[in-house]
Amino acid sequence: MQHETVVVIDFGGQYNQLIARRVRECGVYCEICSWRTGLDEIKAKNPKGVILTGGPNSVYDPASASYTPALFSAGIPVLGICYGSQLMMQLLGGRVAPAPGREYGKTEVTVDTRSLLFDGVSEKTICWMSHNDFIAQPAPGFAVSARTANCPVAAAEDPQRGLYAVQFHPEVLHTREGTKMLANFVYKVCGCKGDWKMDSFVESSIAALRQKIGGGRVLCALSGGVDSSVAAVLLAKAVGKQLTCVFVDHGLLRKNEGDEVEAVFGPAGPYDLNFVRVNAQQRFYDKLAGVEEPEHKRRIIGEEFIRVFEQEAKKIGRVDYLVQGTIYPDVVESGLGGESAVIKSHHNVGGLPDHVDFKEIVEPLRSLFKDEVRAAGRQLGLPEHLVSRQPFPGPGLAIRIIGAVTPEKIKMVQEADAIFREEMAKAGMGGGASQYFAALTNMRSVGVMGDERTYDYAVALRAVTTTDFMTAEAAPLSWELLSAITSRIVNEVPHVNRVLYDCTGKPPATIEFE
Ligand code: XMP
Repeated sequence: MQHETVVVIDFGGQYNQLIARRVRECGVYCEICSWRTGLDEIKAKNPKGVILTGGPNSVYDPASASYTPALFSAGIPVLGICYGSQLMMQLLGGRVAPAPGREYGKTEVTVDTRSLLFDGVSEKTICWMSHNDFIAQPAPGFAVSARTANCPVAAAEDPQRGLYAVQFHPEVLHTREGTKMLANFVYKVCGCKGDWKMDSFVESSIAALRQKIGGGRVLCALSGGVDSSVAAVLLAKAVGKQLTCVFVDHGLLRKNEGDEVEAVFGPAGPYDLNFVRVNAQQRFYDKLAGVEEPEHKRRIIGEEFIRVFEQEAKKIGRVDYLVQGTIYPDVVESGLGGESAVIKSHHNVGGLPDHVDFKEIVEPLRSLFKDEVRAAGRQLGLPEHLVSRQPFPGPGLAIRIIGAVTPEKIKMVQEADAIFREEMAKAGMGGGASQYFAALTNMRSVGVMGDERTYDYAVALRAVTTTDFMTAEAAPLSWELLSAITSRIVNEVPHVNRVLYDCTGKPPATIEFE
């Protein structure tokens, strides 16, 4: 099924993905293309509208990213945001200049509510500004439709041609009525009907997968994480027993996690697929014995994972398709979609195996943002504990144990972590912190238990709030909650006699404790 599409042309602004997410939240499919993408390629997508993003440069610098002015006469409505608005003005004969005063942050803007873009928006509203240049003079044919104290042209438009320009950022939540403005653009200006819904995505993906795969055999490495779980269920619904899911239990999962994954995907669960659980704990423990350096642990686990996976794949015989849980931010961040550089170098265990022959990779979640993957998972009936799972590193608890990994230490961190999660859930804090877990420090110290002297380990608790996992702050957990968790851990987990709370943000620390 061909969805209505809005295309975001990315000029390197930091909110490019956010624009696409907001448009999709309005019920309209949205894709990100680099400004290097030719107009013909964009037109071939048959877009209902185009949005030009912000960007770090000045439009009057000849080296800056630009676009062909033919875009504005292609009969497609265009919304320019920040840099995108300035580019539109400049390319159509307006004037952009350095602003007398730099505007940054929440700013009151007065909008013309007769504009389609501002239909239903309060006349005085708050928006998010971040710019050094400003539109000194709008292009011929444009009327000014919003202004601030420092910015005489905060928005301009030529409704006849379907061209709209806003200096501020409607995609950022600080712009109080930004979502309404974007919805106005896609519905009232572009005439979209809003056909991007998770139920129709799920249905059309299943049909498309069935058609593509035919009678082929499909192999999926299932980690129990959100992406691979949702991908696996989509395929199970599409081709049933032609799918084999291999779940490698490396013995570094959280408490009971292996059994939870098996309960959902194994023979007792609701899906009709071939499920193979490989209990490879000992293999991983042997390889990790005595290894202290975190990158070294990561490498060993990654490699061993692939070897185990290959062995299982060989047993299955012919494989036509290999499933990958790639999601849209991976596509954009790897430079295939928009402009952003590769920021993350994390690899999940389960990179591509070298010795499994297959015809093609299938990536059923390639077009989805994380929130949409979760929504699809709910639509497919996956249990909530899998769908709303926190991020968990592929190398698992091995990188939440400082120093050498032993089965005893794994047990300690599993138990402490389970208590932490239970208490957080009880306190309803799960919603507040973005990610939280226990780690085992390599520090032993003297304590006293009953009348006995102890010389035992310290557990570190980590809880952070973050929106993008690139930066984070320590979550301000209440003292009462921390005391309750501490007392349970030292009472219930043998060989732990201290509990520490990590107050560090990222940077300078990382979220993981390795
Ligand atoms: P750091 O520790 O770099 O983590 O601040 C940022 C986010 O990434 C997660 N993380 C991983 N996720 N495979 C993953 O899928 C990995 O190897 C990995 N290492 C870290 C981490 O949990 C946090 O959410």
